[in-house]
Amino acid sequence: MFAEAFRNKTVWLSGHTGFKGAWLAQWLLELGANVHGFALEPATKPALFDQLGLVKRLHHQIADIRDPAAVQKSVKKSQPDFVFHLAAQPLVRLSYEQPLETYATNVMGTTHVLEALRGLKKPCAAVLVTTDKCYENREWLHGYREDDPLGGYDPYSSSKAAAEIAIAAWRRSFFKKHPVKIASARAGNVIGGGDWAKDRIVPDCVRALQKKQPIAVRNPNATRPWQHVLEPLSGYLWLAACLAGRNPAPHIAHSTLESAFNFGPAHEANRTVGGLVTEVLKHWPGRWEDKSDSNAVHEAGLLQLSTDKTHALLGWSPVWSFPTAVERTVTWYRETAADPHSARALATRQIEQYQADASRAGLSWMVK
Ligand SMILES: NC(=O)c1ccc[n+]([C@@H]2O[C@H](COP(=O)([O-])OP(=O)(O)OC[C@H]3O[C@@H](n4cnc5c(N)ncnc54)[C@H](O)[C@@H]3O)[C@@H](O)[C@H]2O)c1
Repeated sequence: MFAEAFRNKTVWLSGHTGFKGAWLAQWLLELGANVHGFALEPATKPALFDQLGLVKRLHHQIADIRDPAAVQKSVKKSQPDFVFHLAAQPLVRLSYEQPLETYATNVMGTTHVLEALRGLKKPCAAVLVTTDKCYENREWLHGYREDDPLGGYDPYSSSKAAAEIAIAAWRRSFFKKHPVKIASARAGNVIGGGDWAKDRIVPDCVRALQKKQPIAVRNPNATRPWQHVLEPLSGYLWLAACLAGRNPAPHIAHSTLESAFNFGPAHEANRTVGGLVTEVLKHWPGRWEDKSDSNAVHEAGLLQLSTDKTHALLGWSPVWSFPTAVERTVTWYRETAADPHSARALATRQIEQYQADASRAGLSWMVK
């Protein structure tokens, strides 16, 4: 799987104490990688990072991505074969309260990683993570393609567009004849066990359901490309493996991979927030209330991604349907609520289930 690209390899991973980063660290460890994590302390209690007991299983560094010298030193010391940059301030609503911190972390933090990569003298494949929100949102019915204009209404979305512009500029200016290969990855809204962030719909559901309270839904009619967390992570891993030389389509120039890729769900998973909550309630009975607020800060109404390029160049496709993604997510919260010690075994089981389903679907990253 992933052409064995990660076995005994060194991986520098920023944001390993966060939701997606902790899942990625878990998967990389299972793939036999030696993981060096760089992030702030977990921001929530509980935190997936703690639930998975990751502190003892990887090289754990608490440091700030806004500090260029710290990033440089950390990357240089680990001499990575792979870099995954996930550290960010990822919340739209918080970005309205903390626009400068959001820009410092998401834009300058990304340039600090790029500068650290410039200093490497060895081959390294780097995947820098932005978001589907980096596109100028025109409330289109069809999905955004990688060459559509970047933009973003709010500080978070625009900071990720700015990060994309920086990545493209650094790649053109400094990485044409460099052993480090860089791609960026834009994924949609992610669900999965172990997300405890404030203001995200699934954690909001779980917190309300645990207290037997109605779920307050701010934006019931907003449409999002929901996907299970393992979907974009399989994409990041396969993109990195391909950048490192496991090109699934030999007729395609390797330099084509040094670009931006969308990782979104199948069309049927573009659902409203209300539709997602209704699906959650099938597995954990309760009720929800429409708490739409006409004075709330602006959030995009309609957002979908085209994954044609990713499918054509990487052979990547989503694996789990929307109902399966929701069922696995709710199962995770219910089982870990009943037995808090089950989190790690459950994460391993869900990764195995995902890999088995990808294998049945004949996806290139599983068969190689
Ligand atoms: N969760 C989603 O639905 C989603 C969707 C699209 C893109 N993304 C992107 O995926 C990445 C991970 O998102 P997540 O949901 O896991 O977020 P998260 O908030 O759970 O984790 C963020 C991570 O970044 C680290 N971090 C934040 N500020 C830092 C700083 N100044 N210095 C060092 N580390 C810092 C945190 O410590 C944490 O490890 C982000 O880049 C986010 O923009 C997330």
